[in-house]
Amino acid sequence: NDIVPFYGANQAGITTSPQDNLYIVSLEVTTDSKQDLIQLFKEWTEASALMTSGNTVGDTSTNGNLPPKDTGEAVGLSPSNLTITFGVGPSLFVKDGKDRFGLRSKQPAELVDLPKFPLDALKKEWTGGDLCIQACADDLQVAFHAVRNLVRMARGKAVIHWAQTGFQRTKNADAQKVTPRNLLGFKDGTVNPDVTSKSALQKSVWVQKGDGPDWLVGGSYMVVRRIQMYIEVWDRSTLNDQEATFGRHRDSGAPLGKQNEFDSADFEAVDETGRLVIPETAHMRVARGDGKHSILRRSYSYTDGMDTKTGSLDAGLVFICFQRRPSTQFIPMQQRLAKNDKLNEYIVHRGSALFACLPGVQKGGYIGETLF
Ligand code: HEM
Repeated sequence: NDIVPFYGANQAGITTSPQDNLYIVSLEVTTDSKQDLIQLFKEWTEASALMTSGNTVGDTSTNGNLPPKDTGEAVGLSPSNLTITFGVGPSLFVKDGKDRFGLRSKQPAELVDLPKFPLDALKKEWTGGDLCIQACADDLQVAFHAVRNLVRMARGKAVIHWAQTGFQRTKNADAQKVTPRNLLGFKDGTVNPDVTSKSALQKSVWVQKGDGPDWLVGGSYMVVRRIQMYIEVWDRSTLNDQEATFGRHRDSGAPLGKQNEFDSADFEAVDETGRLVIPETAHMRVARGDGKHSILRRSYSYTDGMDTKTGSLDAGLVFICFQRRPSTQFIPMQQRLAKNDKLNEYIVHRGSALFACLPGVQKGGYIGETLF
């Protein structure tokens, strides 16, 4: 069975075991009618429930005089564990000082533009957005079909601001389904909150009552960063240097000085010359900090042709993480990383967005109903 239920207490695509492919778009709302927006969310809800269960959108009657309701490229394909996750950005509430839909009083204090971090080299065309649709599936055509049809329904109400595909090794290619590797060759996703633990998710991922406005309870904040990797530079660095960058062994994924991927890291250990085995600047060490605030990482690799400025491949990570409170989770973490992470020699952040992923919805309701 490769269906992930669309309806539920929380949206799917957050704690769902990551599918092979990602297709994520950010949209700008062009209508100024709140009713239009509500109507759009209703149509999106119905279509998403259909597509995630392997159906086409709209009726299948073939009237040769009209464009088909469904674009057709997923006909006959399995649902491929498709999930569709919707989010709203800060600019949906207030843009250029304007309360666009009378929602100003509902904007959570946490849903504001992320601060500018040192070393950020953000491009407008990869940054921000009023709405977000994240589609994940074990088949890229299925994910693309979902986004395409949802965007099509938004005609006259919203336009695409940026779009990004992402991939991992397919589960087909990895019989053991171990932690996937990113494009720097390291296992990525080893240390993450336990998605089977309700208390871990309540602590780190799902917005709780009292955190802010009630409409977002059961939702989650999603940070998206388009991070380009200088892969040519990386490929010329030594294995020792690469391992020191992350604080882990490349092949096993074990913390430096340990044998196995899930062994606990010894941050005190020193080598025979008295130097820390896991350097002060190792990504894993800096990201963890005091270990009190974790995020749920759910990133994908991307390749996007070539970087015409340098002639190298444009490749990297669509870094995605979910959390209950960006101000105590992603933001301080990224502030530490921008300052101290050895990985900064090999990466640059080109895009950024923050969205509040809406709470889940039950059959008969619609996504966003608590907000409007
Ligand atoms: C750990 C790669 C960006 C947060 C790791 C690990 C790798 C990695 C290989 C070790 C294995 C693991 O636990 O998954 C990368 C790459 C990045 C990147 C290639 C950029 C291209 C970021 C960013 C953040 C972040 C932007 C958050 C601001 C973390 C955290 C851990 C981690 C929280 C786990 C730390 C721990 O052991 O407690 N990353 N990462 N990473 N990364 Fe990143």
